[in-house]
Amino acid sequence: MKVAVIGAAGGIGQALGLLLKLNLPAGSKLSLYDIAPVTPGVAADLSHIPTDVEVTGFGGEDCSPALEGADVVLISAGVARKPGMDRADLFNINAGIIKSLTAKVAEVCPKALLGIITNPVNTTVPIAAEVLKKAGVYDPKRLFGVTTLDVIRAETFIAEAKGKACSDIKVNVIGGHSGVTILPLLSQVEGVSFTDEEVTALTTRIQNAGTEVVEAKAGGGSATLSMGQAAARFGLSLIKGLQGEEVIECAYVQGAGDNAEFFAQPVKLGKNGVEAILDYGSISEFEQKALDDMLPTLKGDIEKGVEFGQAE
Ligand SMILES: NC(=O)c1ccc[n+]([C@@H]2O[C@H](COP(=O)([O-])OP(=O)(O)OC[C@H]3O[C@@H](n4cnc5c(N)ncnc54)[C@H](O)[C@@H]3O)[C@@H](O)[C@H]2O)c1
Repeated sequence: MKVAVIGAAGGIGQALGLLLKLNLPAGSKLSLYDIAPVTPGVAADLSHIPTDVEVTGFGGEDCSPALEGADVVLISAGVARKPGMDRADLFNINAGIIKSLTAKVAEVCPKALLGIITNPVNTTVPIAAEVLKKAGVYDPKRLFGVTTLDVIRAETFIAEAKGKACSDIKVNVIGGHSGVTILPLLSQVEGVSFTDEEVTALTTRIQNAGTEVVEAKAGGGSATLSMGQAAARFGLSLIKGLQGEEVIECAYVQGAGDNAEFFAQPVKLGKNGVEAILDYGSISEFEQKALDDMLPTLKGDIEKGVEFGQAE
């Protein structure tokens, strides 16, 4: 298996590179690309860790050599949030970066599974879909917005609030990946119950957890270490699926159902990427209202991405 990380010298990219170097199956290849000149050094640094994963670093203007033969491509290239910004503020810079990098993926490794980490995910994923469509290689089963961070945050916060082991808490987070579009399905969490006040407080905390980190880092960026872990979990699940294991992860994909054209929900992963988009089950009245209320925002984000992706 070959995994390419694009944006590999960044805060997320370096954490992700480390976790993949430690956890990819023996014999895998890890390919790192970033426009930052430090990238070959990041690869050299990682290559001294004694695991049977071959690491190669690529810099320069063209990411093609890094993409050659990739089974999975994870893109975290772009700019991150500073205090006072929301994810939509990143659109102007990151949209163009995703457009040009996805065009390279379409050209060099069109069959790779592509995970987009770069924000605003609600919009960058539809941009990538349009670019792949234009190149005639779009397969909705192979394109994912990485929303795993919302899941691991939800699991951590619930475990903390209820005095449980993190490993005992499983929760689906549906919708999108910004503010009100993040909807943790707390009513479905097994082994715990919540008061109405707890549901409101936990939901709000999970939705704003990114801002918690942005403010605590005081201008130094957004979540990188927890996101590195989330992206590694998701990337390793993609690899397990490719190797024939049945794995389920929440992800932001096209064709999920009636809510919006792109929607995050549990997805069964397999040899072709999305094996099946799973029903997220019955939800509470609170969750239904939150879902109804978020849809105009999510649909607006998607439309913006489609328009940008289609523009010349
Ligand atoms: N999906 C999520 O849950 C999630 C969570 C946190 C952050 N993010 C997003 O991930 C992105 C990266 O965050 P970060 O903290 O790693 O930022 P960072 O600034 O530390 O790293 C970004 C890296 O991208 C590189 N880069 C920029 N343009 C590039 C290009 N055209 N080709 C290759 N590399 C390029 C930069 O050189 C830099 O090394 C941001 O958009 C951020 O908002 C997503």
